[in-house]
Amino acid sequence: NTKVLRIDPENIDMDLVREAAAAIRAGGIVAFPTETVYGLGADTYNPEAVKKVFIAKRRPMDNPLIVHIHSLNQLYEVAVKIPPEAEKLARRFWPGPMTLLLWKSDKVPPEVTAGRPTVAVRMPAHPVALAFIRESGVPIAAPSANLAGRPSPTTGEHVVRDLYGRADVIIDSGETVYGVESTIVDMTRDPPVLLRPGGLPVEEIERELGKEVVIPQFARGLGQADVALAPGMKYRHYAPFKRLTIVEGDYSDLKAYAAKVAEVVKQEIAKGARPIILCSSETAQYYEQQGLRHLVLGPRSNIFIVARNLFKTFRAIDEMLDVDEAFMEGFEERGLGLAVMNRARKASGFSIIRV
Ligand code: TXA
Ligand code: MG
Repeated sequence: NTKVLRIDPENIDMDLVREAAAAIRAGGIVAFPTETVYGLGADTYNPEAVKKVFIAKRRPMDNPLIVHIHSLNQLYEVAVKIPPEAEKLARRFWPGPMTLLLWKSDKVPPEVTAGRPTVAVRMPAHPVALAFIRESGVPIAAPSANLAGRPSPTTGEHVVRDLYGRADVIIDSGETVYGVESTIVDMTRDPPVLLRPGGLPVEEIERELGKEVVIPQFARGLGQADVALAPGMKYRHYAPFKRLTIVEGDYSDLKAYAAKVAEVVKQEIAKGARPIILCSSETAQYYEQQGLRHLVLGPRSNIFIVARNLFKTFRAIDEMLDVDEAFMEGFEERGLGLAVMNRARKASGFSIIRV
């Protein structure tokens, strides 16, 4: 039986936080908010509890979890041989939407890291998450709180949809800020390798380090992932149930681009399909004029908003009875645009059209 606790991040009820922490100490699993997406957590040091996380979200056991910490002391507990560059990033960007891949300490059981010698660590910038980790007294091992393959949850309601009856406690603190997961950087390599773009733009990490981070093709959501580097990347991710196609093109002339997108969509309508376009604020008017059904993700001039709305919109199209497929505009791969395109391409199952 799942207990749902509503905790206002601006006025935290510590009794409720302690109740969630008690569930962790009793070996239970708790869904909690972070600034990126909701996580489903267990006591990092309790292998039986960690296994429950995999079972609850139907996650393959070979896909490791992120260890969430509330202080740098906990970093030194879970990771060893930490390179100075990793510490530099931790001090600059934590708490925040950045996960560092480091060598694991003996304290971290193999269940958390899927038997790997490395551990992914992050300190979330969410007051409820930090209070919850602190009160639990242990680092919290957690993947995103969705059923495997589904878009990550950005509201407490999404978590209830996916995990009610499967988690012991769900903390509902409303909507998350970023709406995409953290940026994962492999700091066991030099130069560091971007394993997943996310809430913190990789450009900011490069600026802080004063050097380039390697960006493999799979981090752009293109090409097959190297399983040795990124175990989770071989699985279908972030996906709505309905068919999704990404229509990529040249965004320097938006009018010409939107005309091409409209052409693709009109061909689908001619075939009897009922498509919807996921578009930018800048191009919405064009589809409006053509009488084409569309949903606005946000402005190209503020890609942060597009990222925040992405998973929510994927879930929303699944709820629309008179829509059977979606065509999403592409976005420039700068800043958060890299994370948006990685998620979009993967969610489409690599169904990508270039116009
Ligand atoms: O923002 C986030 O990162 C959210 C919140 C809850 O913190 N968490 C999240 O977790 O997105 P999850 O499990 O959905 O994604 C974690 C990713 C997976 O792709 C996994 O393969 C990778 O991190 N990962 C974890 N440990 C790893 C390791 N030792 N080596 C390589 N990749 C690892
Ligand atoms: Mg996930």
